[in-house]
Amino acid sequence: MPEHTRYSVAALRTFAERILVEAGLEPGEAALLGESLIEADLRGIGSHGLTRLRTYAQRVQTGVVQAGSVPRIVREAPGALAVDGCNGAGVPVGVTVMDWCVERARTQGSCFATVCNGNHFGIGAFFTMRAARAGMIGLAMSNAPASMVPAGGKRPLLGTNPLSVAIPAGTSPPLVLDMATSTVAQGKIILAAKEGATEIPGHWAVDENGQPTTDPQAALRGAMLPFGGAKGYAIALIIDVLCSALGGSAPSTGIHSFWDDFERPQNVGFFMGAWSIAHFMPLPEFHKRIDALFTTLKSSPPAPGFDEVCIPGEGEQRRAEQGRREGLAYAPAVMADLSALAQEYQVAFIEEGCDA
Ligand SMILES: NC(=O)c1ccc[n+]([C@@H]2O[C@H](COP(=O)([O-])OP(=O)(O)OC[C@H]3O[C@@H](n4cnc5c(N)ncnc54)[C@H](O)[C@@H]3O)[C@@H](O)[C@H]2O)c1
Repeated sequence: MPEHTRYSVAALRTFAERILVEAGLEPGEAALLGESLIEADLRGIGSHGLTRLRTYAQRVQTGVVQAGSVPRIVREAPGALAVDGCNGAGVPVGVTVMDWCVERARTQGSCFATVCNGNHFGIGAFFTMRAARAGMIGLAMSNAPASMVPAGGKRPLLGTNPLSVAIPAGTSPPLVLDMATSTVAQGKIILAAKEGATEIPGHWAVDENGQPTTDPQAALRGAMLPFGGAKGYAIALIIDVLCSALGGSAPSTGIHSFWDDFERPQNVGFFMGAWSIAHFMPLPEFHKRIDALFTTLKSSPPAPGFDEVCIPGEGEQRRAEQGRREGLAYAPAVMADLSALAQEYQVAFIEEGCDA
C-alpha cells in the first residue's frame, strides 16, 4: 500500500474547528468536537474521526443540532443528576456533564448523570479519560439508533450502544475500555465501504435476512451482531434502559439516524459519571495495587501468535503517541472528502507535515 501524506495534529485540529465554526458552532463547542475527532483518529478509531466531520457540520448547519445550546440540570440529588442535553452537540454536552460529575465526586465520592435530548457523542473514552486525569474512575455510555440485532433476532432493535470505563494507574498508563456493544462499531463498516473494501469479517454483521455476511454493503442494509452473543446483547439493552427508561431519551428504536436524517433531532441518551478513588482507597495504595495487577498481566507469557498481553487502551495510547510524533495519515477517500469540505466552507485546507 502506498505511504499516505501525514498531517500534523495541530493543523488537523485547526481545520476541524474552522469547519465546525463555519457550520455554526460556538468556538468552544467546535474546539471540543474537533479535539474528540482528532483524538479518535490518534487512537486508531478512524471510524469516529475526521471521516465524520462533514456529517457533524451538516447537522449543525441544518439546525437539526442546536449550536450554542447549554445542558440543563432538571433534577438533582447528592450523587445523581438528571440532565436535559437541550439538543446540543453531543461532545460538548458530554464534556460539561462529565465535568459536573467529577466536581461533585470530589466531595461526595461519586456522581452519575443521565442525559436526554442528546446527540452522537463520538468516542466514549473522550469523557472517561477526563475523569481518569482527575484521579477518578470514569464511566460513559450512550444509546444509538437501532442497527444491531438482539441475540436470536433478525431485526435491528438496539444501537451499537458504546461503553467506556477509564481507570488511572500509578506508573502504568490508564486502563481505558472503550467499545461498541456490537462486535465492532458500525462506523468501521461505513468507513470500510467508503474506502472501497469489498470484504469484512463474517462475524461482524448480518444481511437483511439475518444471515452472517462478509459484504459491507449487505451488512449496511442488514444489521450488526452483538459482541459475545447474548452477553453483548444484554449489556446493550442495559445501556438502552439507563439512557432511555431512566434518563428519558428515546430508546434505540426511536433514535433518528446520525448519517441521513437532517430533519428530526436524534434524542440520544447518555449515562455517565465518576467515582473518586480516594473515597474508597488511599490513592497511593490504589496505585500500588493496580500497578501490581498490570505488572502480573504484562509479564505473563504471550500465547502462540501474540507478542504480548496488553492492558485495555494500551494499543490506542501507543498509536496516539506515534500520531502526535509523526502526524496522521488518511485514506484517499477521506482526504478527498475533507478537501471538498474545505472548498464548500471556504476554509484553508490542511497543511502537510508534523508538529515535532
Ligand atoms: N457514539 C456512538 O454512538 C458509538 C457507537 C458505537 C461505538 N462507538 C465508539 O466506537 C469506538 C470503537 O469501538 P469498537 O468496539 O469497534 O472498539 P475496538 O474493538 O477497537 O476496541 C474495544 C476495546 O478493546 C480493547 N482491546 C482491543 N484489543 C485488545 C487487546 N489485545 N488487549 C486488551 N484490550 C484490547 C481496546 O483497548 C478497546 O478498549 C469506541 O470509541 C466507541 O466509543 C461510539
